Amino acid sequence: MTTSSAPGKVYLFGEHAVVYGEPAVPCAIERRARVTVERREDERLRVRANDLTLDGFTVTWGGSGTDPRPDVDVPTPLVEAAMGYIDGAIEQALDAAGEDGIGFDITVESDIPLGAGLGSSAAVVVAGIDAAARELGVELDAGTIADRAYRVEYDVQDGQASRADTFCSAMGGAVRVQGDDCQRIEDVPTLPFVIGYDGNTGDTGKLVAGVRELKEAYGFAADTVESIGDIVRSGEIALDDGDVEEIGRLMNFNHGLLSALGVSARSLDTMVWAAREADALGAKLTGSGGGGCIVALDRTEQTHTALEYTPGCEDAFRAELDTEGVRRER
Ligand code: PMV
Repeated sequence: MTTSSAPGKVYLFGEHAVVYGEPAVPCAIERRARVTVERREDERLRVRANDLTLDGFTVTWGGSGTDPRPDVDVPTPLVEAAMGYIDGAIEQALDAAGEDGIGFDITVESDIPLGAGLGSSAAVVVAGIDAAARELGVELDAGTIADRAYRVEYDVQDGQASRADTFCSAMGGAVRVQGDDCQRIEDVPTLPFVIGYDGNTGDTGKLVAGVRELKEAYGFAADTVESIGDIVRSGEIALDDGDVEEIGRLMNFNHGLLSALGVSARSLDTMVWAAREADALGAKLTGSGGGGCIVALDRTEQTHTALEYTPGCEDAFRAELDTEGVRRER
C-alpha cells in the first residue's frame, strides 16, 4: 500500500489568459489531496473518496467483461468527473511502469474543495500517479509526474487545460507557466493568503468557452486577455522586488479584467469587496471563476474575520505558500 499527497493552488495572476499563451503565476497552498493505492487481484478500480465537497462515495469500475459504469445508482457529475481523473492517473502510472490490466483499491482524502479554483483535480491526479507508480515499483520525478498529470487533465477537459495546475501541484511553491514552459519562481516574499469560499463550483469548460467567444467577437476582449498577460509580467517584477503592496494592486487589477471577461460572480465580487474594505492588500477570484474561491492578501487578521462574516462566504481560511509539491507519505 502506498500513499502520496499533493497540494492545491491559488492563482496569484493569469488564469484564463494562460489558455491563450500568456504567462500565469499559480502558487501551491498548504491544503492537500492524499491518495492511497493498493494493488488488487483483479483488473477493477475501486475508489473510496472523502473530501470537503463530496459526502463520500465508493465506486468500482473497469475490468474485462464488466460493466464500465460505476456501481452507484446515479453518479453525480462530480463523481463522474472524479472517476475520469482517477482513471487517467492510473492509466498514466500503468503506462510509466509498462504494465496493463492491473486493478487497484484507491482512497482519496482531500482538504481542497472540488471545482472551486483551488486545483483539487490536479492535486488528486498528481498524488494518484505518484502513489500508483510506486505501488508498481516505479519512482517518477516531479517533472515527469507534472507532465503525465497534464495529459490527464487535457483529456478529461477536452483539450481545455493549461499546465499551470498540474505543474504547480507537482513542484510546489510559486511557479510561472507559459505554454509548455514551466518554471519555479525562487525567493518569493511571504504572501499572507486568505481564501474565501462561497460553497459553489464553476464549470471550467463553459467559462473557458465563454471567454473564447468574447475574444473572437470583440477586439477589446482579446486586448483584455493580453492586458492580463501584462499584469502577470508586472507581477513577476513585483515578486522579484518583494513588493507585496504592488502585488496586491495588481491582483485587484487582474480581478477587474476577469470580471470584464464575464467569469466573476456576485458571490465572488462580494467577497473581493469585503476583503478590500477590510484592508486587504489585494483580492481576486482564483481559477476559472463562476463561483468557488477568492484569494486575498491579508496584512492583518481583519480580512479573514471580515470574510467569515460576509454573507455568501461559506468558509474563510488562511493558507500559507506550500514549498513542497508531490510528497511520499507511505
Ligand atoms: O478552476 P481551475 O482551478 O481548474 O483553474 C482553471 C484555470 C483556467 O486558466 C481557466 C484554465 C486552465 O487550464 O488554465
